[in-house]
Amino acid sequence: MASRDGASCALVALCLLMQLALPQAATTEPLVPAMFVFGDSTVDVGNNNYLKNCSIDCKADHPRYGVDYLDQAPTGRFSNGHNLADQLAQLLGFAESPPPFLSLREESRIPQMMSTGINFASGGSGILDGTGQHLCGVVLPMSEQVGNFSSLVKSANQTAADLVSKSLFFISVGSNDFFEYLGAKHSPNATEFLQLLVSSYSTNLKGLYAAGARKFSVVSPSLVGCVPSQRLVANQTKDFDRFNCLAPANNLSYLLYPEIASMLDDLSTQLPGMNYSLGDSIRMAELVFNNTHTPNIGFTMLDSACCGKGDFGASACNVSVPLCKNRSSYLFFDRFHPTENASRFTATELFSDPGKFVHPINVQQLVASHP
Ligand SMILES: *[C@@H]1O[C@H](CO)[C@@H](O)[C@H](O)[C@H]1NC(C)=O
Ligand SMILES: *[C@@H]1O[C@H](CO)[C@@H](O)[C@H](O)[C@H]1NC(C)=O
Ligand SMILES: *[C@@H]1O[C@H](CO)[C@@H](O)[C@H](O)[C@H]1NC(C)=O
Ligand SMILES: *[C@@H]1O[C@H](CO)[C@@H](O)[C@H](O)[C@H]1NC(C)=O
Ligand SMILES: *[C@@H]1O[C@H](CO)[C@@H](O)[C@H](O)[C@H]1NC(C)=O
Ligand SMILES: *[C@@H]1O[C@H](CO)[C@@H](O)[C@H](O)[C@H]1NC(C)=O
Ligand SMILES: *[C@@H]1O[C@H](CO)[C@@H](O)[C@H](O)[C@H]1NC(C)=O
Ligand SMILES: *[C@@H]1O[C@H](CO)[C@@H](O)[C@H](O)[C@H]1NC(C)=O
Ligand SMILES: *[C@@H]1O[C@H](CO)[C@@H](O)[C@H](O)[C@H]1NC(C)=O
Ligand SMILES: *[C@@H]1O[C@H](CO)[C@@H](O)[C@H](O)[C@H]1NC(C)=O
Ligand SMILES: *[C@@H]1O[C@H](CO)[C@@H](O)[C@H](O)[C@H]1NC(C)=O
Repeated sequence: MASRDGASCALVALCLLMQLALPQAATTEPLVPAMFVFGDSTVDVGNNNYLKNCSIDCKADHPRYGVDYLDQAPTGRFSNGHNLADQLAQLLGFAESPPPFLSLREESRIPQMMSTGINFASGGSGILDGTGQHLCGVVLPMSEQVGNFSSLVKSANQTAADLVSKSLFFISVGSNDFFEYLGAKHSPNATEFLQLLVSSYSTNLKGLYAAGARKFSVVSPSLVGCVPSQRLVANQTKDFDRFNCLAPANNLSYLLYPEIASMLDDLSTQLPGMNYSLGDSIRMAELVFNNTHTPNIGFTMLDSACCGKGDFGASACNVSVPLCKNRSSYLFFDRFHPTENASRFTATELFSDPGKFVHPINVQQLVASHP
């Protein structure tokens, strides 16, 4: 019963926000001066397009990506439309995510954009430096994203540097580390692997703090065993969990979340003025998977990709494979990534959830805090 209430409550919040956020975006200042984005393909808005040696599997610069974006343009977003970074940016009062770092570098617009935000995220990347290199060839790992941001702050003037402490740092990363670990025959063991992830994550957050960041919105990896590509593996190995997803993959997600939570808690006591909001994507996914018969969550196709062929639509997404017509009823757009409407659901929870899915505060409270 509680989860059913949660579902309708989430929908009401969603509807209210959609009515309120749009006029607000057009008429008032954003809630933060700037937003800086870090992480993987859940939030990349085109950095990988600029990496010449990054493979096609790790780029979304071709149709049918962007089929619901302005002019149906494939921008590098791994989505039919806007992604999670865009939708959180919209709730903050921006038009969409700030632009990709590598596009700005080419256009010499970095100094100007330091005052409104930059997106450093790179599809295929992970918390660990090596993640993504085997599959993608070249990606920007978290440490490089953080390093690149820190160099920009060092070369910025004082005004721009002051804005950093009032800005939102949005981070979504970790799933690719899991995929590679599972493919690598579980070595080292899970306990050691998770410790490695958390300690590397912590180092990266400290790097951002040292560069002036104070307000962190962090999204934990979701139930990665439930994406179509992993459901296909589960159907082959018969290693199912209660959602018919790949059990060893989801187990890693369940184990990592409390580790990230206590890491953030520790950091906020060590680092003066640091505030954070941790989004529990696992609980958000559970809400959807627990309520398969509750139509008001809005998604009726929970296991197959909209763009893809074969079992679970788990092939690559491109113009030669089928594209579903009813994108708004699909949870997944391609074999790894949510649809625009699925990430809107997540963004709305991150922004305004009263405490079920975000801890200790939501993003709206985070940006209003005065460290
Ligand atoms: C891209 O790959 C080619 C061939 O492997 C290599 O020669 C070149 O140095 C690489 N470029 C970059 C930027 O890594
Ligand atoms: C500082 O940099 C910002 C852009 O980040 C620019 O708009 C502003 O004019 C610069 N201020 C000074 C005093 O140079
Ligand atoms: C980003 O950081 C990496 C590693 O520190 C460096 O090699 C690279 O040149 C930087 N990229 C840009 C565009 O500054
Ligand atoms: C994982 O490996 C470490 C070091 O080799 C060992 O101390 C620990 O007992 C192992 N944990 C499990 C659950 O196997
Ligand atoms: C997943 O975790 C559950 C509970 O902790 C355990 O019973 C199960 O064996 C684990 N499955 C895998 C595949 O690791
Ligand atoms: C933000 O962090 C500061 C100190 O780190 C703390 O005093 C304050 O209560 C926090 N604000 C919120 C809204 O949690
Ligand atoms: C989903 O259902 C499981 C099993 O009944 C429960 O433990 C879990 O808390 C539920 N999740 C949510 C978000 O309601
Ligand atoms: C799962 O695999 C079986 C064969 O083992 C196949 O018949 C079935 O269609 C697959 N399920 C889905 C949803 O693709
Ligand atoms: C599209 O993806 C399919 C399925 O993975 C693949 O067989 C095909 O070669 C791809 N076509 C193009 C044009 O990339
Ligand atoms: C997303 O949901 C909204 C409202 O439910 C709907 O109007 C829109 O068409 C959907 N967008 C896509 C791309 O499915
Ligand atoms: C499309 O999705 C919406 C929302 O889930 C649903 O109301 C509608 O019946 C679906 N239409 C078709 C043709 O599947």
